[in-house]
Amino acid sequence: MSKENIWQGNTTFILAASGSAVGLGNIWKFPYMVGSNGGSAFVLVYLICILLIGLPVMASEVLIGKYGRKSPINSLKDISLKFNISFAWKYLGVLGALAGILILSYYSVFAGMAFSYIFNLFPSGLENPSSYSTNYFSDFSSSPMKLIFWHTIFLLATCFIVGLGVVKGIGRSVNLLMPFLFLFIILVSIYSGITGDINKTLIFLFNPDFSALTPQVIVSAMGQAFFSLSIGMGAIMAYGAYMPEKQLIGKTVLTIILLDTLVALAAGIAIFPIVFSNPSLSVNAGPGLIFETLPVAFYSLPYGKIFSIIFFTLISIAALSSAISLLEPFTAWMEEQKKLARKNIVLILGMLIWVVGLGSIFSFNIWTEKRILGFNFLEAIDYITNNIMLPMGGFFIALLVGWLIPYEFIRENVKFSNFQFRIFYFSLRYISTSAIILIFLYSVF
Ligand code: TRP
Repeated sequence: MSKENIWQGNTTFILAASGSAVGLGNIWKFPYMVGSNGGSAFVLVYLICILLIGLPVMASEVLIGKYGRKSPINSLKDISLKFNISFAWKYLGVLGALAGILILSYYSVFAGMAFSYIFNLFPSGLENPSSYSTNYFSDFSSSPMKLIFWHTIFLLATCFIVGLGVVKGIGRSVNLLMPFLFLFIILVSIYSGITGDINKTLIFLFNPDFSALTPQVIVSAMGQAFFSLSIGMGAIMAYGAYMPEKQLIGKTVLTIILLDTLVALAAGIAIFPIVFSNPSLSVNAGPGLIFETLPVAFYSLPYGKIFSIIFFTLISIAALSSAISLLEPFTAWMEEQKKLARKNIVLILGMLIWVVGLGSIFSFNIWTEKRILGFNFLEAIDYITNNIMLPMGGFFIALLVGWLIPYEFIRENVKFSNFQFRIFYFSLRYISTSAIILIFLYSVF
């Protein structure tokens, strides 16, 4: 890889990786998962998963990418060759690249919806904003054309950035977008803390209620940790390839997971107070929490319109910087084949993703009745990627780095302090591998 394909300075890698991590998973999914999984118990298990599984797997991904300086598929191949391990490990990269395409196909549908909500301003003087909101959302999701329109716009933006390349496209856009994201999330949380019921929120999020702790909560918390940190499919590995040589993996990964967790918690603090302050709304609204419930809350608050615009802009930015990382692994690999230019690759992949995305769109309307093993199309793709492909990817990454690559190599490259390294290596070898297997078996059988 040429020198110009390395991000200069330490911040671009951090912004790109935290841009990948912070997305719909933090701002849309985390709050509603907390809401429907009993609050603080879920938060606690989630934080444990982030530290004991997320951190070691993410550091391993960065390590492989930084060593190989190629797409995940070829970096995995190179690192296995170096240590005389079977080159079949590259298929782990193939699995990941495919997972990225599948996740992006529905991610783009939800991101498109969030983007359209920037322009969804409730008319003033409504008698019943809550039924207006529900009707608006059901009209929207039952119209394939509207969903297709916003899905197309969002996917075009994603392909455009990835098509421009790693330095000019991804690097520049995260430098531009991420500061706004951090600024907006702080703004909205302060606003919400002032106008809403912050006390109830803090108790809901942080006062541990162990009676709510069920195996299902643990499974969901681990799945959420994987999804939120963007691990298990090579997105972070792909970015690791562009990390400056001198940048320290351990410290950088700690920064990224800290940012991701702070934004998820801030999203909770931004959303719950205003939901709690409106007695007609409920925090366990599920996936409709931000689309149906939140606009009603904003409607009745001072400066609600402005903050609604800021909030949905925030989500759109977060989603865009994540979407590009879902597309990069497959794109980088095809570029290495040297048959097609990057622009044409993203065009082809974009069309493929667009078509698969139609399946998810139709799951809301014309295909609601079509089911495979009880799942509709969207649920099936979501299940296969989040419950099977990502944990499997994470497990094999932990197995490769924890058990097959020599200790000294990892020690030298991760650059944690002694104490940190001991915890990291222990969780990588024992905790993350066994926890993933246990949780995986439980969720599948
Ligand atoms: N982490 C992102 C979010 O929270 C989504 C995402 C981006 C992702 N890249 C990924 C999830 C790779 C899994 C794997 O919204």
